[in-house]
Amino acid sequence: MQQPGLTKNKAHAAAHAKIPTPSGKLALKALQVMLRARSPLPALEVFHGELGKVFRVNLPSFKPIMTAGAEWARWLLVEARESFLWKAPKDPIARLLRDGLLVADGETHDSMRRLMNPALHRNALISYVETMWRATDRIADQWQPEQAYDMLPEMRKIALLIVMETLFSVDFMPHIAHYWAPLLQTLRYISPGIWIFWADVPRPNYWRALRRIDAYLHQIIHARRAHLAQSGTQPNDLLGILVSAEGVDDAMIRDQMLTMIIAGHDTSTGLLAWAMYLLGAHPEAAQRLRAEVDTALGEAPPTMEHLAQLKYLDRFIDETLRLYPPAHLGSRIAAQDLTHDGYLIRKGERVTYSIYVTHRMAEYWQEPAEFYPDRFLEKPVPYSFLPFGGGPRNCIGAAFAQVEAKVILARLIQRFDFTLLKRDVHMHMAVTLEPRPGVFMRARRR
Ligand code: HEM
Repeated sequence: MQQPGLTKNKAHAAAHAKIPTPSGKLALKALQVMLRARSPLPALEVFHGELGKVFRVNLPSFKPIMTAGAEWARWLLVEARESFLWKAPKDPIARLLRDGLLVADGETHDSMRRLMNPALHRNALISYVETMWRATDRIADQWQPEQAYDMLPEMRKIALLIVMETLFSVDFMPHIAHYWAPLLQTLRYISPGIWIFWADVPRPNYWRALRRIDAYLHQIIHARRAHLAQSGTQPNDLLGILVSAEGVDDAMIRDQMLTMIIAGHDTSTGLLAWAMYLLGAHPEAAQRLRAEVDTALGEAPPTMEHLAQLKYLDRFIDETLRLYPPAHLGSRIAAQDLTHDGYLIRKGERVTYSIYVTHRMAEYWQEPAEFYPDRFLEKPVPYSFLPFGGGPRNCIGAAFAQVEAKVILARLIQRFDFTLLKRDVHMHMAVTLEPRPGVFMRARRR
C-alpha cells in the first residue's frame, strides 16, 4: 500500500534499500589510496570493502552504480541481459564506433555478431598463427641489444600488424608511422576524461585524426571492392565476409573495421605489456616459461600443436589478466526500472561491473594481490574471472586474443632474454589498463 505523503515513484523507491554511496570520510580515504597508488582502481576496492558489492559513485553529473562479484556479474550479463542496453549515445565510444559491434544493440548487434563470428572462431585461428609470429619477428628484429624499449608501444605495433593482416589482409607495416599519431589521438578521445562531466566538450584534434583514419578505412574497402569486381575473388577474411554480405554498406563496414581495430588491438596491447612487466619482475616465472617454451618449440616457430603444450604460459596469461584486466570495467544502461538484491535501478541509469575489483576479491582468490599463476591449476568460481566479460555479449575476440598472446609471448621468450629496467610501474586507466610510465626492457638475443 502506498505510504501517505509519498508520490507513487517515491513509494516504489521506499520499498527498496538505498544504494550505498561513500561518505565524505570514506571518499577521503579512497582519495588517499588513489594518490598513493596513482590509480583510481584501488580506490574502488576501498569502496567495495566498506560498502559491499553494490554502491554508487557520487561524482558531479556522473553517478554510475558500481557492482562487483560473481553474483551481480551473472545477473547483469546473463539473467537480466535483455533489460540492459550497451549504447549510451553521448559516450565518446558510441560516437566513434556508431553501429560497431561493441556498442550496437538489438538486431543490428545480433546480426553483425552472427555474421562476423566465423572470422574469429577457433577454427579460423589456425590460419592466423603464422601471421602472428611473423608480425612479432618483424617488430622484434628491429630491437638493438643495448637499447631500452618501452614494451607498451612495441606490443601495440605487433598487435596492430596482426589485426590488420588477419582480419583485413592489409600489411600495416608501411603505414604504422603515418597512422600512429591519429590512432593514439582517437584512443585518447575514448579514454576516461572530462567528457564524463561534459559530454559536448569540443575536441577538434580528435575529429581531424578520425577523418584521416576514416579515409584510410574507406580506401581499404574501395580497394577490396575493386579487386573483387575485377577478379571475382577475394581473400578469405573478415573484410571479405563484410563486403560480400547483403545489406551491409560501406558505412557499416567502416564501423565494424574500426571496432575490430580498436577493441582487437588496444586490449591485447595492455595484456602483452603487463605480461612483459610480470615476466621481468618475476625471474622464477620467466625461467619456468623459458624451459617450457624450449621443450615444446625448440628452434621451430610456434604452431597450434605447440601452443597446446604451453600450460604454464596459459596460467601466466590468466594471472596477468586477473591482476591487470585490460578491460577493467563493463558498462550497461538500464532499459527499464529493475530490482535486484533488494535495490531499485531506474531506467536510464548506468550500471557497471568491475572486473578489476572482482578479480581481487578475497572471497574468490587467496592472497589476491600476489602474482601466483599456479592458482589457475584450480578452476575459478564461475563469473569470478571475467577478463573477457561473460554471457552472450562476451568478447567475440577472446579465443583470438588468447592464441595471439600465447604466440607472441612464446616467440619472444624463445628468441630473447629480457631485463626489466624500471620496476616502479602503476596502472593507468586509458581505454584499457596500461602500465605507466612504461615497461622499459632490454632484449638480448638468446
Ligand atoms: C586481451 C584481449 C582482450 C580483452 C581483455 C577483451 C575484453 C573484452 C570484454 C571484457 C568484453 C565485454 C565488454 C562488456 O561486457 O561490455 C569484450 C567485448 C568485445 N571484444 Fe574483446 N577483449 C580482448 C580482445 C579482443 C579482440 C582480439 C577482439 C577482436 C579481434 C575483440 C573484440 C571485441 C568486440 C567486438 C566486443 C563486443 C562484443 C559484443 O558486444 O558482442 N576483443 N572484450
